[in-house]
Amino acid sequence: MKTQLLLAAALALHASAAPLKIELPPETVVFKTAPGADSALGNCLICHSAEYVTTQPPLSPVAWKAIIEKMQKKYGAPLPAGQVDALVEYLVKSYGAAAK
Ligand code: HEC
Repeated sequence: MKTQLLLAAALALHASAAPLKIELPPETVVFKTAPGADSALGNCLICHSAEYVTTQPPLSPVAWKAIIEKMQKKYGAPLPAGQVDALVEYLVKSYGAAAK
């Protein structure tokens, strides 16, 4: 009797364990084409969409650099040291204080 109950419970559990289907919204925002865009594509989209960048206000070079350092130090972004300055320049010109 006990075995039958256990079996019934196990079957009920199994029936409710349908695979969970998660559909992410399509990626709609892309980085602007300009020198340095390759680095942004390769280094910034590992963790989140380009929208995190495009929705920022027109930030200064100092502010963009601080964001990049935060990505590295707080979130562990594996960014090659030699690319930081070029990335700051790209972000400032495309989305920051120097964007047209
Ligand atoms: C290792 C993962 C990782 C990488 C790589 C990464 N980020 Fe982030 N980023 C995060 C996380 C985590 C957050 C915070 C998310 C939240 O608060 O919802 C974030 C947030 C942001 C924000 C929102 C403002 C803020 O300060 O929180 C901006 C802008 C941003 N990232 C830019 C960048 C840029 C530019 C790059 C490429 C140089 C980059 N990220 C690479 C993990 C990453």
